[in-house]
Amino acid sequence: MKTVALVSTVGGAGRTTLTAALAVLLARRSRPVAALDLDPQNMLGAHLGLDTFAAAGLAQAMAGQAPAWQGNTWRNAEGVLFVPHGETTLAERTAYEARLAAHPRWLADALQQIDFPAHGVVLVDAPRFPSQQAEQAIRSADLVLCVTPPEPAACATLARCFPSLRASARTVKVVVNRLNPAREMQRDALALLRAAVGDALELAHRVHFDAAMPDSLARGGWIFDDVPYSQASHDLHGLANWLDVWLENDANAGADARAGSEPTR
Ligand SMILES: Nc1ncnc2c1ncn2[C@@H]1O[C@H](COP(=O)(O)OP(=O)(O)OP(=O)(O)O)[C@@H](O)[C@H]1O
Ligand SMILES: [Mg+2]
Repeated sequence: MKTVALVSTVGGAGRTTLTAALAVLLARRSRPVAALDLDPQNMLGAHLGLDTFAAAGLAQAMAGQAPAWQGNTWRNAEGVLFVPHGETTLAERTAYEARLAAHPRWLADALQQIDFPAHGVVLVDAPRFPSQQAEQAIRSADLVLCVTPPEPAACATLARCFPSLRASARTVKVVVNRLNPAREMQRDALALLRAAVGDALELAHRVHFDAAMPDSLARGGWIFDDVPYSQASHDLHGLANWLDVWLENDANAGADARAGSEPTR
């Protein structure tokens, strides 16, 4: 089982949208998928099909009041297992964040308890970096996808945080979301970002802006079903394909390393 964390250094980058879309697209490729919501906004469940905000979830587990998985795990129509964050007050969040700070491996240890097939993947939607939840997600992840809009302030913030992200992540890639090539300012912002992150930014990691994205969510559907030939749908399939191949290669590299031979990557 591999863990993939979706993080960003600004709000509204598209982490939750991409976590849910990738979960469904990977599940449709017959990969066992679980999605975890570490964000107090508790929105991932809505993306994955809940029509109310789940009252309980990982928040209560992080507070030490409930087991991490039993009783809090849902399965949607696509076969994606997911654990919502749960509803919390500010005081409850402050308390569980202090607990996370004292137990930096809380999520890594909890993930060890998941009985999931070797080719399964756990996607983690984390709140904005830096935060206790994002740090835990990054520390637990085999791959960190850093989602950013190609806007000057967002790219500058990511460029500044990237060295510390890269230092604590096993592998980190940048995913540019809400791309609008007609905007010259975005091209300049991307050039700045590329100079800062180098090959962490690949062509397969771009999702174009499409107003149908929030519309599909509001209707309880998926853009890749509603508007399958749009650029954004094509991009999401491309990102899911890339991730599927990355997961396969990383699993093989791990097997090679365990067999004592040189990894192929
Ligand atoms: N490629 C896109 N094109 C158009 N709209 C998008 C795209 N990606 C995401 N959105 C929209 O942007 C908004 C923010 O997306 P989302 O909630 O996924 O971001 P987030 O990073 O999880 O935000 P938050 O910091 O609030 O958790 C949503 O309305 C979503 O539908
Ligand atoms: Mg979100």
